[in-house]
Amino acid sequence: MAGIQIAIDGPAASGKSTVARLVAARLGGFYINTGDMYRTVTRAALDAGLDPDAQPDAVVALLGNLELRYRLVDGVPVLHLNDQPVPQEGIRAPEVASQVSFVARIPGVRDWLRERQRETRALGTIVMEGRDIGTVILPDASHKFFVTASPMERARRRLAQAGEVTDGATLASVAAEIAERDRIDSTRAVAPLRPAEDAVHINTDDLTPDQVADRIVACVQEGKA
Ligand code: CDP
Repeated sequence: MAGIQIAIDGPAASGKSTVARLVAARLGGFYINTGDMYRTVTRAALDAGLDPDAQPDAVVALLGNLELRYRLVDGVPVLHLNDQPVPQEGIRAPEVASQVSFVARIPGVRDWLRERQRETRALGTIVMEGRDIGTVILPDASHKFFVTASPMERARRRLAQAGEVTDGATLASVAAEIAERDRIDSTRAVAPLRPAEDAVHINTDDLTPDQVADRIVACVQEGKA
């Protein structure tokens, strides 16, 4: 039998990754992080000396040299670029965070990644997180969630993630970076960040990741969402 598909979308630093990983573990599904795929393309573009905002065509041309896919390692999907696992420290770096929204608004990049994201359905039950999973990538997903938190709570969470912010970053500077990324993600022409009409909204301000995961798993088991 085909697996179930759970789409979890939401803005930057809303806690999607932690929650999606917990949900996948509880349901025995595979966790797919599409943000990591955009971040990997961004890392490759920066390493090639490109300015993604000014050189979108060069970023698309670069894709011809990249082979990007999730592969199972000991039963867990691990993102691989050109046969090598993608190191987290490279794609979580602050310079990637500040450029990734420019890469993600290039239509040719989204087209290229869409197929690579959809092919993970072959794994079985998947929990896929991103910005356009419920609207564009898996519009027929059995369960859709839109996870949010207030801008200040999101900045607090991001500041607590070592290695993801520049030295000397403050709550205000992190909040500004997140707000700018959300602005670009929400206003782009192709697949903007927005909830699917049939998504269940969860505000996570006063909830722990475990509590959010509990709600999602309960919705899935009750057949809601
Ligand atoms: O982890 P964080 O909340 O900072 O963001 P992410 O999920 O790693 O996504 C990084 C960026 O990739 C987003 O700000 C979007 O620009 C882009 N993205 C997207 O456009 N569509 C997706 N499905 C996932 C990520």
